[in-house]
Amino acid sequence: MNVIQATGGISPVNKVPMINDLLYRVFDRFLRGYEDFKVRRMKRSFKSCGERVYISPKCFIWSEDCLEVGNDVCIHAFTYIFAVGGVKIGNGAMISSNCSITSTTHPIESAKRFAEDEITKPVIIGKNTWLGMGAVLLPGITIGDDSIVGAGSVVTKNVPPKSIVVGNPAKVLRKIEL
Ligand SMILES: CC(C)(COP(=O)(O)OP(=O)(O)OC[C@H]1O[C@@H](n2cnc3c(N)ncnc32)[C@H](O)[C@@H]1OP(=O)(O)O)[C@@H](O)C(=O)NCCC(=O)NCCS
Repeated sequence: MNVIQATGGISPVNKVPMINDLLYRVFDRFLRGYEDFKVRRMKRSFKSCGERVYISPKCFIWSEDCLEVGNDVCIHAFTYIFAVGGVKIGNGAMISSNCSITSTTHPIESAKRFAEDEITKPVIIGKNTWLGMGAVLLPGITIGDDSIVGAGSVVTKNVPPKSIVVGNPAKVLRKIEL
């Protein structure tokens, strides 16, 4: 609460929070503008990007030009995508926060690991899929249409359509009746 002094002014003590609040608002507005700009720029760098795509500005995408995104897709904060080997995200896919999707790996033999190129295998995330928080998709994986990957699951093999998979390594929990 501001204390109005007898002189009609605001106490210098009370000016500090007001100035802090103003600075916060100005900086916050600037940051939001910057984040919107960053996401728009990111989408333009994709190999393709559909309509009504929400991407959190706090996502990390490597090799943006190798990422294909369909319509009505959302990708939440702290999801990390290594797209260099090609990652395709189908229409209506929901990718929750903290997911890791990689289309690249390294040779197993340590001597070759730095000397040779990375090994790339495309990842395909089908239509109307849902990756729960913290799901991990390894190189070469296809998630079938309408399937769900449970939170924290590590997908090491292809997921058939209309299936719920959970665990590490992810296994089919049950099929989805549509
Ligand atoms: C996969 C999921 C959709 C399954 O939901 P459900 O069908 O209601 O599953 P249930 O709670 O009935 O669990 C069934 C079994 O699977 C196991 N299970 C469920 N989710 C699991 C997960 N993510 N990892 C490992 N096991 C899981 C349960 O422990 C249970 O095992 P049990 O039969 O031995 O007791 C849900 O558990 C999940 O992970 N949702 C993601 C939530 C999320 O990330 N939200 C973020 C906002 S988008």
